Amino acid sequence: MTKLIMGNWKMNGDRALVSTMIAAIKSAISQKKSRVQVVVSPPFPYLGLLKQTIGEANIGIGAQNVHTQLSGAFTGEISVNILKDWDTTHCLVGHSERRSHFEETDELVQQKAKLLLEHQIQPVICVGETLEQRESGQHEATVIQQLTVALDGMSSENLAQCIVAYEPVWAIGTGKTATEAQANQMHQVIRNTLAEQATETIAKAIFILYGGSVNAKNADSLLQQSDIDGCLVGGASLKPEDFSQIIQACP
Ligand code: PGA
Repeated sequence: MTKLIMGNWKMNGDRALVSTMIAAIKSAISQKKSRVQVVVSPPFPYLGLLKQTIGEANIGIGAQNVHTQLSGAFTGEISVNILKDWDTTHCLVGHSERRSHFEETDELVQQKAKLLLEHQIQPVICVGETLEQRESGQHEATVIQQLTVALDGMSSENLAQCIVAYEPVWAIGTGKTATEAQANQMHQVIRNTLAEQATETIAKAIFILYGGSVNAKNADSLLQQSDIDGCLVGGASLKPEDFSQIIQACP
């Protein structure tokens, strides 16, 4: 099955990185025999340059956030229409940094996901527990709750277009990766939740990405897991060589 590798630059990067990164990705993809889909999510101002640099290559254009209104007096925000205008293909919603710093709730995640789907942009719905929740045995319930609210009221057809990223909060930017077993087990929980909301066939076809300190060294073993369909990469997505190695690690 195709794997999906998505880079999340967060509030990092510059114009030079757009060209070096896209050149590195093009070369990594051309050397790969197995199928891999790659998406790059830089800060908003680089979307135009990203699109231009990608040219005809098959690389997705990702955004890190979207506002719920289509236009208007919302200084500093970006609408789905603007994302569409730059041929954005994917958009993160509910990243843990948005949840903790910008009060993004599960309800807001749902609103944003539905809006993106109406505009043919694939939402990448991020879920994940804190260390405290894991240590108190609440990790599965937390993730199921986040996902259930995010997908509430969504048709099976729409649900099939969603991507889910499991990112344990304690693993993001900390250098602590979930073990392959921990990640795979949560991915199975997510897949079961998706099957309950839609059908088993749809749940099987949905990409479930793992994120949280993925790097050139650990990508290989994570990507070998039965239910890990790809990775959402933060820090290592700013390093062309490391990101290429992650792409190469796709089985
Ligand atoms: P990280 O970030 O790879 O730097 O841990 C992942 C993410 O936040 O998407």
